[in-house]
Amino acid sequence: MPKSALIIGVTGQDGSYLTELLLSKGYIVHGLVRRSSSFNTARLNHLYEDPHEADRQLILHYGDLTDSTGLRAILEKARPDEIYNLGAQSHVKVSFELPEYTADSVAMGTLRLLDCVRDHVRHTGRGVRFYQAGSSEMFGAAPPPQNENTRFYPRSPYGVSKVAAYWYSVNYREAYNLFVSNGILFNHESPRRGETFVTRKITRAIGRIKMGLQKKLYLGNLDARRDWGFAGDYVDAMWRMLQHSSPDNFVIATGQSYSVRDFITEAFSYAGLDWREYVEIDPQYCRPTEVDFLCGDASKAKALLGWEPKTSFSQLVCMMVDKDLGLAEQERLLHDQQYVTSRAVGAPIALRPTSDVEKYNLSCLGNGAFQRSPKQEQPDFVAGHCGLAGSAAH
Ligand code: NAP
Ligand code: GDD
Repeated sequence: MPKSALIIGVTGQDGSYLTELLLSKGYIVHGLVRRSSSFNTARLNHLYEDPHEADRQLILHYGDLTDSTGLRAILEKARPDEIYNLGAQSHVKVSFELPEYTADSVAMGTLRLLDCVRDHVRHTGRGVRFYQAGSSEMFGAAPPPQNENTRFYPRSPYGVSKVAAYWYSVNYREAYNLFVSNGILFNHESPRRGETFVTRKITRAIGRIKMGLQKKLYLGNLDARRDWGFAGDYVDAMWRMLQHSSPDNFVIATGQSYSVRDFITEAFSYAGLDWREYVEIDPQYCRPTEVDFLCGDASKAKALLGWEPKTSFSQLVCMMVDKDLGLAEQERLLHDQQYVTSRAVGAPIALRPTSDVEKYNLSCLGNGAFQRSPKQEQPDFVAGHCGLAGSAAH
Protein backbone atom coordinates (compact mmCIF):
# COMPACT_ATOMS: atom_id res chain seq x y z
CA MET A 1 0.00 0.00 0.00
CA PRO A 2 1.39 3.42 -0.88
CA LYS A 3 1.59 5.90 1.98
CA SER A 4 -0.96 8.70 2.01
CA ALA A 5 -0.66 12.29 3.17
CA LEU A 6 -3.09 15.12 3.77
CA ILE A 7 -1.80 18.63 3.09
CA ILE A 8 -3.68 21.57 4.58
CA GLY A 9 -2.57 24.63 2.60
CA VAL A 10 -1.88 22.57 -0.54
CA THR A 11 -2.51 25.58 -2.80
CA GLY A 12 0.22 27.68 -1.16
CA GLN A 13 3.89 27.99 -2.05
CA ASP A 14 5.03 25.21 0.28
CA GLY A 15 1.96 23.08 -0.40
CA SER A 16 2.80 22.87 -4.10
CA TYR A 17 6.46 21.91 -3.53
CA LEU A 18 5.51 19.39 -0.87
CA THR A 19 2.90 17.85 -3.17
CA GLU A 20 5.56 17.41 -5.86
CA LEU A 21 7.94 15.83 -3.37
CA LEU A 22 5.40 13.39 -1.95
CA LEU A 23 4.07 12.39 -5.38
CA SER A 24 7.65 11.70 -6.47
CA LYS A 25 7.96 9.37 -3.48
CA GLY A 26 4.82 7.46 -4.51
CA TYR A 27 2.42 8.92 -1.92
CA ILE A 28 -1.28 9.38 -2.49
CA VAL A 29 -1.71 13.07 -1.69
CA HIS A 30 -4.95 14.56 -0.39
CA GLY A 31 -5.09 18.34 -0.37
CA LEU A 32 -7.45 20.74 1.34
CA VAL A 33 -8.56 23.60 -0.89
CA ARG A 34 -10.46 26.65 0.35
CA ARG A 35 -13.56 27.64 -1.52
CA SER A 36 -12.86 30.79 -3.48
CA SER A 37 -14.83 32.73 -6.08
CA SER A 38 -11.77 32.67 -8.33
CA PHE A 39 -9.31 29.85 -8.98
CA ASN A 40 -6.76 29.41 -6.22
CA THR A 41 -5.11 26.26 -7.57
CA ALA A 42 -2.65 27.85 -10.03
CA ARG A 43 0.37 26.44 -8.18
CA LEU A 44 -1.05 22.92 -8.62
CA ASN A 45 -2.13 23.17 -12.26
CA HIS A 46 0.81 21.09 -13.47
CA LEU A 47 -0.08 18.31 -11.00
CA TYR A 48 -3.86 18.35 -11.30
CA GLU A 49 -5.56 15.06 -12.07
CA ASP A 50 -9.13 14.89 -13.32
CA PRO A 51 -11.49 13.41 -10.71
CA HIS A 52 -12.77 10.98 -13.36
CA GLU A 53 -9.34 9.37 -13.77
CA ALA A 54 -8.84 6.04 -12.07
CA ASP A 55 -5.91 5.60 -9.66
CA ARG A 56 -5.44 9.25 -9.00
CA GLN A 57 -2.42 10.19 -6.88
CA LEU A 58 -3.62 13.73 -6.09
CA ILE A 59 -7.09 14.19 -4.60
CA LEU A 60 -8.41 17.62 -3.64
CA HIS A 61 -11.14 18.30 -1.06
CA TYR A 62 -12.90 21.51 -0.15
CA GLY A 63 -12.29 22.48 3.46
CA ASP A 64 -11.22 25.24 5.78
CA LEU A 65 -9.31 25.44 9.04
CA THR A 66 -12.19 27.44 10.50
CA ASP A 67 -14.62 24.52 9.96
CA SER A 68 -14.07 21.46 12.17
CA THR A 69 -16.97 19.51 10.70
CA GLY A 70 -15.35 19.56 7.29
CA LEU A 71 -11.92 18.74 8.72
CA ARG A 72 -13.31 15.67 10.48
CA ALA A 73 -15.03 14.47 7.31
CA ILE A 74 -11.86 14.86 5.23
CA LEU A 75 -9.85 12.93 7.78
CA GLU A 76 -12.33 10.06 7.67
CA LYS A 77 -12.30 10.05 3.87
CA ALA A 78 -8.56 10.43 3.36
CA ARG A 79 -7.32 8.32 6.31
CA PRO A 80 -3.81 9.78 5.88
CA ASP A 81 -0.63 8.38 7.39
CA GLU A 82 0.85 11.86 7.52
CA ILE A 83 -0.73 15.29 7.91
CA TYR A 84 1.06 18.51 7.04
CA ASN A 85 -0.62 21.60 8.48
CA LEU A 86 0.63 24.39 6.22
CA GLY A 87 -2.65 26.32 6.17
CA ALA A 88 -2.51 29.87 7.48
CA GLN A 89 -3.21 33.52 6.92
CA SER A 90 0.55 33.75 6.50
CA HIS A 91 1.15 37.45 5.85
CA VAL A 92 2.64 39.24 8.86
CA LYS A 93 1.56 42.76 7.89
CA VAL A 94 -1.96 41.60 7.06
CA SER A 95 -2.18 40.01 10.50
CA PHE A 96 -2.18 43.48 12.06
CA GLU A 97 -5.27 44.27 10.00
CA LEU A 98 -6.95 40.88 10.41
CA PRO A 99 -5.81 39.82 13.89
CA GLU A 100 -8.93 37.84 14.74
CA TYR A 101 -9.06 35.93 11.48
CA THR A 102 -5.32 35.28 11.73
CA ALA A 103 -5.78 33.82 15.22
CA ASP A 104 -8.77 31.82 14.04
CA SER A 105 -7.01 30.20 11.09
CA VAL A 106 -3.52 29.89 12.56
CA ALA A 107 -4.00 29.20 16.28
CA MET A 108 -7.58 27.90 16.52
CA GLY A 109 -7.29 26.17 13.15
CA THR A 110 -4.34 24.15 14.41
CA LEU A 111 -6.22 23.29 17.60
CA ARG A 112 -9.28 22.16 15.63
CA LEU A 113 -7.16 19.98 13.41
CA LEU A 114 -5.21 18.43 16.30
CA ASP A 115 -8.47 17.66 18.07
CA CYS A 116 -9.85 15.91 14.98
CA VAL A 117 -6.63 13.92 14.67
CA ARG A 118 -6.72 12.86 18.33
CA ASP A 119 -10.29 11.57 17.92
CA HIS A 120 -9.50 9.88 14.62
CA VAL A 121 -6.50 8.10 16.13
CA ARG A 122 -8.57 7.08 19.16
CA HIS A 123 -11.43 5.52 17.27
CA THR A 124 -9.47 3.97 14.41
CA GLY A 125 -6.32 2.96 16.28
CA ARG A 126 -4.33 4.18 13.27
CA GLY A 127 -0.89 5.76 13.57
CA VAL A 128 -0.96 9.31 12.14
CA ARG A 129 2.01 11.68 12.04
CA PHE A 130 1.43 15.42 12.14
CA TYR A 131 3.63 18.28 10.95
CA GLN A 132 2.93 21.78 12.26
CA ALA A 133 4.28 24.71 10.24
CA GLY A 134 5.88 26.88 12.88
CA SER A 135 7.77 30.04 12.01
CA SER A 136 10.87 32.04 12.88
CA GLU A 137 8.37 34.88 13.48
CA MET A 138 7.80 33.16 16.83
CA PHE A 139 11.31 34.33 17.85
CA GLY A 140 10.46 37.89 16.89
CA ALA A 141 12.61 40.18 19.01
CA ALA A 142 14.82 37.44 20.48
CA PRO A 143 18.40 38.11 19.30
CA PRO A 144 20.12 35.84 16.75
CA PRO A 145 21.23 33.17 16.23
CA GLN A 146 17.91 31.50 17.07
CA ASN A 147 17.60 27.77 17.73
CA GLU A 148 15.15 25.35 19.39
CA ASN A 149 16.11 26.68 22.85
CA THR A 150 15.63 30.36 22.07
CA ARG A 151 12.68 31.90 23.89
CA PHE A 152 9.75 33.12 21.84
CA TYR A 153 9.06 36.86 21.66
CA PRO A 154 6.57 37.31 18.82
CA ARG A 155 5.98 40.78 17.38
CA SER A 156 2.73 40.41 15.42
CA PRO A 157 -0.69 38.78 15.73
CA TYR A 158 0.63 36.22 13.23
CA GLY A 159 3.68 35.47 15.40
CA VAL A 160 1.58 35.19 18.54
CA SER A 161 -0.85 32.83 16.79
CA LYS A 162 2.02 30.63 15.57
CA VAL A 163 3.35 30.45 19.14
CA ALA A 164 -0.10 29.27 20.30
CA ALA A 165 -0.20 26.69 17.51
CA TYR A 166 3.29 25.52 18.50
CA TRP A 167 2.25 24.98 22.12
CA TYR A 168 -1.03 23.28 21.17
CA SER A 169 1.09 20.89 19.14
CA VAL A 170 3.49 20.21 22.02
CA ASN A 171 0.56 19.74 24.38
CA TYR A 172 -1.26 17.24 22.12
CA ARG A 173 2.00 15.35 21.70
CA GLU A 174 2.48 15.07 25.46
CA ALA A 175 -1.15 14.70 26.57
CA TYR A 176 -2.30 12.17 23.96
CA ASN A 177 0.98 10.63 22.90
CA LEU A 178 0.48 11.79 19.31
CA PHE A 179 3.33 12.00 16.79
CA VAL A 180 3.34 15.78 16.35
CA SER A 181 6.44 17.64 15.17
CA ASN A 182 6.93 21.40 15.01
CA GLY A 183 9.04 22.75 12.19
CA ILE A 184 10.35 26.23 13.00
CA LEU A 185 11.10 27.39 9.50
CA PHE A 186 12.90 30.59 8.66
CA ASN A 187 11.86 32.54 5.56
CA HIS A 188 11.85 30.47 2.41
CA GLU A 189 11.13 31.78 -1.03
CA SER A 190 10.81 30.63 -4.63
CA PRO A 191 9.37 31.67 -7.98
CA ARG A 192 6.04 30.48 -6.51
CA ARG A 193 6.20 32.86 -3.55
CA GLY A 194 3.11 35.02 -3.01
CA GLU A 195 3.57 38.35 -4.75
CA THR A 196 3.14 40.54 -1.66
CA PHE A 197 6.06 39.00 0.25
CA VAL A 198 9.09 41.22 -0.10
CA THR A 199 11.37 38.97 -2.18
CA ARG A 200 8.77 38.25 -4.83
CA LYS A 201 7.54 41.82 -4.79
CA ILE A 202 11.11 42.83 -5.65
CA THR A 203 11.71 40.23 -8.36
CA ARG A 204 8.29 40.80 -9.97
CA ALA A 205 9.05 44.53 -10.06
CA ILE A 206 12.47 43.93 -11.64
CA GLY A 207 10.90 41.92 -14.46
CA ARG A 208 8.25 44.55 -15.06
CA ILE A 209 10.74 47.43 -14.91
CA LYS A 210 12.96 45.66 -17.46
CA MET A 211 9.98 45.24 -19.77
CA GLY A 212 8.83 48.85 -19.40
CA LEU A 213 5.69 47.89 -17.54
CA GLN A 214 6.56 49.55 -14.24
CA LYS A 215 8.64 52.54 -13.16
CA LYS A 216 8.89 52.43 -9.39
CA LEU A 217 8.98 49.88 -6.60
CA TYR A 218 7.60 51.07 -3.25
CA LEU A 219 8.91 49.30 -0.16
CA GLY A 220 9.00 49.72 3.62
CA ASN A 221 11.84 48.84 5.99
CA LEU A 222 15.02 47.92 4.08
CA ASP A 223 17.09 47.27 7.21
CA ALA A 224 15.27 44.15 8.43
CA ARG A 225 17.44 41.04 8.17
CA ARG A 226 16.12 37.63 7.20
CA ASP A 227 17.55 34.15 6.82
CA TRP A 228 16.25 33.33 3.35
CA GLY A 229 16.27 29.79 1.93
CA PHE A 230 14.64 28.00 -1.00
CA ALA A 231 11.17 26.53 -0.38
CA GLY A 232 12.01 23.39 -2.39
CA ASP A 233 14.77 22.55 0.11
CA TYR A 234 12.53 23.27 3.11
CA VAL A 235 9.66 20.91 2.23
CA ASP A 236 12.20 18.08 2.25
CA ALA A 237 12.91 18.98 5.90
CA MET A 238 9.18 18.75 6.71
CA TRP A 239 9.04 15.26 5.25
CA ARG A 240 12.19 14.20 7.11
CA MET A 241 10.67 15.34 10.42
CA LEU A 242 7.80 12.89 9.95
CA GLN A 243 10.16 10.02 9.03
CA HIS A 244 12.22 10.54 12.19
CA SER A 245 11.97 7.97 14.99
CA SER A 246 10.28 10.36 17.42
CA PRO A 247 8.37 13.64 17.26
CA ASP A 248 10.32 16.78 18.09
CA ASN A 249 10.84 20.49 17.32
CA PHE A 250 13.31 21.51 14.60
CA VAL A 251 14.68 24.82 13.37
CA ILE A 252 15.16 24.90 9.58
CA ALA A 253 17.35 27.71 8.28
CA THR A 254 20.44 28.47 6.21
CA GLY A 255 22.43 30.19 8.98
CA GLN A 256 23.04 33.20 6.67
CA SER A 257 21.23 36.47 7.15
CA TYR A 258 20.80 39.34 4.69
CA SER A 259 18.98 42.65 4.84
CA VAL A 260 16.12 43.53 2.53
CA ARG A 261 18.56 46.06 1.02
CA ASP A 262 21.03 43.22 0.34
CA PHE A 263 18.31 41.28 -1.47
CA ILE A 264 17.40 44.33 -3.54
CA THR A 265 21.04 45.02 -4.45
CA GLU A 266 21.71 41.42 -5.47
CA ALA A 267 18.50 41.10 -7.49
CA PHE A 268 18.71 44.44 -9.32
CA SER A 269 22.39 44.06 -10.15
CA TYR A 270 21.78 40.53 -11.50
CA ALA A 271 19.21 42.12 -13.83
CA GLY A 272 21.70 44.88 -14.79
CA LEU A 273 19.77 47.65 -13.01
CA ASP A 274 20.74 50.23 -10.38
CA TRP A 275 18.08 49.85 -7.67
CA ARG A 276 18.49 53.43 -6.45
CA GLU A 277 16.80 54.65 -9.61
CA TYR A 278 13.65 52.65 -8.92
CA VAL A 279 13.12 51.95 -5.23
CA GLU A 280 11.14 54.43 -3.12
CA ILE A 281 10.25 54.15 0.54
CA ASP A 282 6.59 54.21 1.45
CA PRO A 283 5.89 53.99 5.20
CA GLN A 284 2.60 52.20 4.58
CA TYR A 285 4.67 49.04 4.04
CA CYS A 286 6.25 49.25 7.51
CA ARG A 287 4.84 47.22 10.41
CA PRO A 288 3.71 48.58 13.79
CA THR A 289 6.27 46.27 15.38
CA GLU A 290 9.06 44.83 13.27
CA VAL A 291 11.19 41.70 13.55
CA ASP A 292 14.67 43.13 12.99
CA PHE A 293 17.07 40.25 12.78
CA LEU A 294 16.48 36.57 12.07
CA CYS A 295 19.32 34.11 11.59
CA GLY A 296 18.70 30.45 12.35
CA ASP A 297 20.89 27.71 13.70
CA ALA A 298 19.72 24.44 12.14
CA SER A 299 22.43 22.21 13.58
CA LYS A 300 19.88 19.94 15.30
CA ALA A 301 18.14 19.23 11.98
CA LYS A 302 21.50 18.53 10.37
CA ALA A 303 22.52 16.12 13.14
CA LEU A 304 19.20 14.25 13.56
CA LEU A 305 17.54 14.52 10.15
CA GLY A 306 20.59 14.82 7.90
CA TRP A 307 19.01 17.97 6.48
CA GLU A 308 21.03 20.81 4.97
CA PRO A 309 20.01 23.60 2.59
CA LYS A 310 21.18 23.03 -0.99
CA THR A 311 20.45 26.43 -2.52
CA SER A 312 22.54 29.52 -1.78
CA PHE A 313 21.19 33.04 -1.37
CA SER A 314 22.61 34.07 -4.78
CA GLN A 315 21.15 31.02 -6.49
CA LEU A 316 17.77 31.77 -4.95
CA VAL A 317 17.85 35.40 -6.08
CA CYS A 318 18.88 34.44 -9.64
CA MET A 319 16.21 31.73 -9.83
CA MET A 320 13.51 34.21 -8.84
CA VAL A 321 14.72 37.03 -11.07
CA ASP A 322 15.04 34.71 -14.07
CA LYS A 323 11.52 33.41 -13.61
CA ASP A 324 10.04 36.87 -13.19
CA LEU A 325 11.92 38.25 -16.20
CA GLY A 326 10.27 35.48 -18.24
CA LEU A 327 6.88 36.24 -16.75
CA ALA A 328 7.21 39.96 -17.47
CA GLU A 329 8.27 39.19 -21.03
CA GLN A 330 5.05 37.27 -21.54
CA GLU A 331 3.13 40.05 -19.86
CA ARG A 332 4.76 42.56 -22.22
CA LEU A 333 3.83 40.44 -25.21
CA LEU A 334 0.26 40.22 -24.06
CA HIS A 335 0.28 43.91 -23.39
CA ASP A 336 1.58 44.67 -26.87
CA GLN A 337 -1.18 42.47 -28.21
CA GLN A 338 -3.50 44.62 -26.09
CA TYR A 339 -4.23 42.01 -23.53
CA VAL A 340 -3.30 42.37 -19.88
CA THR A 341 -3.47 39.98 -16.99
CA SER A 342 -5.97 41.04 -14.42
CA ARG A 343 -3.45 40.31 -11.68
CA ALA A 344 -0.75 42.40 -13.28
CA VAL A 345 -2.54 45.69 -13.12
CA GLY A 346 -3.57 47.78 -10.23
CA ALA A 347 -6.29 49.69 -12.03
CA PRO A 348 -9.08 48.83 -14.43
CA ILE A 349 -7.74 48.49 -17.92
CA ALA A 350 -9.48 48.65 -21.24
CA LEU A 351 -8.30 46.61 -24.18
CA ARG A 352 -8.81 46.74 -27.89
CA PRO A 353 -10.22 43.48 -29.18
CA THR A 354 -8.35 42.00 -32.12
CA SER A 355 -8.77 38.68 -33.82
CA ASP A 356 -5.07 37.84 -33.37
CA VAL A 357 -5.45 38.25 -29.71
CA GLU A 358 -8.48 36.01 -29.72
CA LYS A 359 -6.20 33.30 -30.97
CA TYR A 360 -3.56 33.85 -28.36
CA ASN A 361 -3.12 30.95 -26.04
CA LEU A 362 -4.09 32.53 -22.78
CA SER A 363 -2.99 29.61 -20.73
CA CYS A 364 0.67 30.32 -21.43
CA LEU A 365 1.23 32.57 -18.45
CA GLY A 366 -0.25 30.31 -15.85
CA ASN A 367 0.07 32.92 -13.14
CA GLY A 368 -3.27 34.62 -13.12
CA ALA A 369 -6.50 35.07 -14.94
CA PHE A 370 -6.85 37.22 -18.00
CA GLN A 371 -9.33 39.90 -18.69
CA ARG A 372 -10.42 41.84 -21.70
CA SER A 373 -12.67 44.76 -21.34
CA PRO A 374 -15.15 45.32 -24.12
CA LYS A 375 -15.80 48.89 -22.95
CA GLN A 376 -13.06 50.85 -24.70
CA GLU A 377 -11.56 50.81 -28.14
CA GLN A 378 -8.06 52.00 -27.29
CA PRO A 379 -5.75 50.37 -24.80
CA ASP A 380 -5.15 52.40 -21.70
CA PHE A 381 -1.40 51.80 -21.31
CA VAL A 382 -0.24 51.89 -17.75
CA ALA A 383 3.52 52.01 -18.18
CA GLY A 384 4.83 53.48 -15.02
CA HIS A 385 1.94 52.23 -13.01
CA CYS A 386 3.53 50.18 -10.31
CA GLY A 387 1.12 47.30 -10.84
CA LEU A 388 0.25 44.68 -8.28
CA ALA A 389 3.76 44.32 -6.99
CA GLY A 390 4.19 47.99 -6.35
CA SER A 391 0.70 49.02 -5.43
CA ALA A 392 -0.29 46.04 -3.33
CA ALA A 393 -1.19 47.23 0.11
CA HIS A 394 1.41 45.08 1.86
P1 NAP B 1 1.11 30.59 1.62
O1 NAP B 1 1.71 30.55 0.26
O2 NAP B 1 0.50 31.85 2.11
O3 NAP B 1 0.03 29.42 1.70
C1 NAP B 1 -0.87 29.35 2.78
C2 NAP B 1 -1.88 28.25 2.48
O4 NAP B 1 -2.85 28.24 3.54
C3 NAP B 1 -2.66 28.47 1.19
O5 NAP B 1 -2.91 27.22 0.60
C4 NAP B 1 -3.96 29.08 1.70
O6 NAP B 1 -5.06 28.89 0.82
C5 NAP B 1 -4.14 28.26 2.95
N1 NAP B 1 -5.10 28.84 3.89
C6 NAP B 1 -5.21 30.13 4.28
N2 NAP B 1 -6.22 30.27 5.16
C7 NAP B 1 -6.77 29.03 5.30
C8 NAP B 1 -7.88 28.52 6.03
N3 NAP B 1 -8.64 29.29 6.80
N4 NAP B 1 -8.17 27.21 5.93
C9 NAP B 1 -7.41 26.40 5.15
N5 NAP B 1 -6.37 26.82 4.42
C10 NAP B 1 -6.05 28.13 4.50
O7 NAP B 1 2.18 30.17 2.71
P2 NAP B 1 3.55 29.34 2.53
O8 NAP B 1 4.65 30.30 2.30
O9 NAP B 1 3.32 28.22 1.59
O10 NAP B 1 3.74 28.79 4.01
C11 NAP B 1 3.16 27.55 4.42
C12 NAP B 1 3.02 27.55 5.93
O11 NAP B 1 4.29 27.73 6.53
C13 NAP B 1 2.14 28.65 6.51
O12 NAP B 1 1.50 28.14 7.65
C14 NAP B 1 3.12 29.72 6.90
O13 NAP B 1 2.58 30.51 7.94
C15 NAP B 1 4.28 28.88 7.37
N6 NAP B 1 5.61 29.47 7.23
C16 NAP B 1 6.02 29.98 6.06
C17 NAP B 1 7.30 30.46 5.94
C18 NAP B 1 7.81 31.04 4.64
O14 NAP B 1 8.82 31.76 4.68
N7 NAP B 1 7.17 30.74 3.51
C19 NAP B 1 8.18 30.42 7.03
C20 NAP B 1 7.72 29.86 8.22
C21 NAP B 1 6.44 29.37 8.31
P3 NAP B 1 -5.31 29.91 -0.41
O15 NAP B 1 -4.34 29.49 -1.48
O16 NAP B 1 -6.72 29.66 -0.77
O17 NAP B 1 -5.03 31.30 0.09
N1 GDD C 1 5.87 42.23 2.53
C1 GDD C 1 6.67 43.30 2.51
N2 GDD C 1 6.37 44.32 1.65
N3 GDD C 1 7.73 43.35 3.34
C2 GDD C 1 8.53 44.44 3.27
C3 GDD C 1 8.30 45.50 2.40
C4 GDD C 1 7.16 45.44 1.55
O1 GDD C 1 6.88 46.34 0.76
N4 GDD C 1 9.29 46.41 2.56
C5 GDD C 1 10.11 45.94 3.50
N5 GDD C 1 9.65 44.75 3.94
C6 GDD C 1 10.26 43.95 5.03
C7 GDD C 1 9.28 43.58 6.14
O2 GDD C 1 9.08 44.67 7.02
C8 GDD C 1 10.03 42.41 6.77
O3 GDD C 1 10.97 42.88 7.70
C9 GDD C 1 10.78 41.78 5.59
O4 GDD C 1 10.70 42.73 4.52
C10 GDD C 1 10.19 40.45 5.13
O5 GDD C 1 8.81 40.63 4.93
P1 GDD C 1 7.92 39.48 4.23
O6 GDD C 1 8.54 39.08 2.95
O7 GDD C 1 6.51 39.98 4.22
O8 GDD C 1 8.10 38.23 5.20
P2 GDD C 1 8.04 38.11 6.79
O9 GDD C 1 9.45 37.87 7.26
O10 GDD C 1 7.28 39.20 7.40
O11 GDD C 1 7.17 36.79 6.96
C11 GDD C 1 7.44 35.63 6.16
O12 GDD C 1 8.37 34.81 6.81
C12 GDD C 1 7.93 34.25 8.06
C13 GDD C 1 9.09 33.41 8.62
O13 GDD C 1 9.98 34.26 9.29
C14 GDD C 1 6.10 34.92 5.93
O14 GDD C 1 6.30 33.90 5.00
C15 GDD C 1 5.58 34.30 7.20
O15 GDD C 1 4.45 33.49 6.91
C16 GDD C 1 6.70 33.42 7.79
O16 GDD C 1 6.26 32.79 8.98
